[in-house]
Amino acid sequence: MEINLNKLAFICLHTSWWNIYPPQDIAIEMSKELVYDNWENYIKNDYEKHKKIWLYLHTPFCEAKCVFCSCGSEKIVWWNTLDNYLNKILDELNYFSPIFKNIKLNHAYFWWGTPSIYNNDQLNKLLKTIRWLYNFQDYAQWNFEISPHTITEEKIKILKKYWVSRVTIWIQTMTENSLKFNNRIQTWEKIEKTFLWIRNSWIENINVDLMPWIPWENLKDFLINLKRIILLKPNMIHLYPFRPTKETLFYKDWFTYTDNDIKNRDIMYELWVKLIESFWYKWIENDSWWLNESARNDQEVDKIVNNCSILWFWYPTRSYIHKNLMYFTWYDMYKDDYPTYMGIKMFKNDYISRFIISHFRHWFDINEINQKFSINFLDLYKNEISFLEENKVINIENNFFKTKIENVYEKLLFSKIFYSVENIKLILDKFSYDEKRDYVKEFQNTLSIAYK
Ligand SMILES: C[S@@+](CC[C@H](N)C(=O)[O-])C[C@H]1O[C@@H](n2cnc3c(N)ncnc32)[C@H](O)[C@@H]1O
Ligand code: SF4
Repeated sequence: MEINLNKLAFICLHTSWWNIYPPQDIAIEMSKELVYDNWENYIKNDYEKHKKIWLYLHTPFCEAKCVFCSCGSEKIVWWNTLDNYLNKILDELNYFSPIFKNIKLNHAYFWWGTPSIYNNDQLNKLLKTIRWLYNFQDYAQWNFEISPHTITEEKIKILKKYWVSRVTIWIQTMTENSLKFNNRIQTWEKIEKTFLWIRNSWIENINVDLMPWIPWENLKDFLINLKRIILLKPNMIHLYPFRPTKETLFYKDWFTYTDNDIKNRDIMYELWVKLIESFWYKWIENDSWWLNESARNDQEVDKIVNNCSILWFWYPTRSYIHKNLMYFTWYDMYKDDYPTYMGIKMFKNDYISRFIISHFRHWFDINEINQKFSINFLDLYKNEISFLEENKVINIENNFFKTKIENVYEKLLFSKIFYSVENIKLILDKFSYDEKRDYVKEFQNTLSIAYK
């Protein structure tokens, strides 16, 4: 099949900007038993060589919906929502646990929406069950993310009791107008106390997430706030420049992010980086700015560097069984009793494409890829490489694959060349590709809402 830029742009328009391969947009419904079989197959055939699995748990509930947020999560409405959700998760944890009874998982990760929203009993029950049903390597990183207004000293003690070793505090902004506009309640007093509680409990690392030019931010407050946060010495700082994507209330409520906002966001980001680096924070490959190397997010790095398998609970999740399957679950807890499993089977070189796509932004060592996957990269991907060379977006020099891409648009567009022909065909058919339409322009226009 002939591949051209128009087809790649069409794929970009119909797949997630997370740019993770294979794309969940072409998943089909499958049984939970089939997912179970694929995990068993991985453990039997590939685990001994690969030895990489992390467990992830999703809590898609929040006390209020923040205006800036693009994550799939919902405001809690019923008093029993969390208990119901927790019971379902515990069922799933139980169901899959026999597969892993002789395995030591590498890490655990408790990420969005708000894992710190559970009450003490629920939190205890959840962490205790995971420790009871699953084994972890010694010193496995347990990474737990918290929003300041839902955390308490008691909850921090519970995290410590179950060996959580890294806590992320979602600060995003401390500018008063911005907090109000975005529906967030947090005070300096609470932030400082939270740092103290975590330090006093000897949890090893604190990471903070901050958001340059979040709606209603201003440069002066922002710099003052950042300096105050730096003085609390978080071990790591993540900067996520605001993106007014279609999922945000900001976009849905018809607020506009002007060219001037985009300019300010980029200036702010540059200033932040300068400030952070002047306080001895260093950039670490595949992650963010750190004071000590152990503060890096092992899960995220392992996902990029080692194609780590991911056992994610629950909706809307994206699990990955190395060389076997990418799957996730859908669940409407107000209508359904059980989640629906959706997946895409991995064929031939799909797992190599997954690795290349996640490394596409900068460069990689071809020898390393050849060794890692026992392939001849230049031979196996010769068509893709000549396409990229013709479009002047890569150089192959001294056995290094180096991209010359300069922005998110090029990264998303050109990385799609590594999709398998079968998956490209599936996407073109499923979403009705029309070769007379100019998808390159359409994609550029869509993307410019969120990025410059
Ligand atoms: C999954 S969200 C969870 C946020 C968290 N619950 C909180 O209270 O802030 C994780 C990260 O995604 C990033 N994020 C969410 N919405 C975003 C947006 N519209 N633009 C850029 N980054 C965003 C934020 O930096 C956030 O820390
Ligand atoms: S930012 Fe966090 S707390 Fe706010 S809506 Fe998103 S997931 Fe929920």
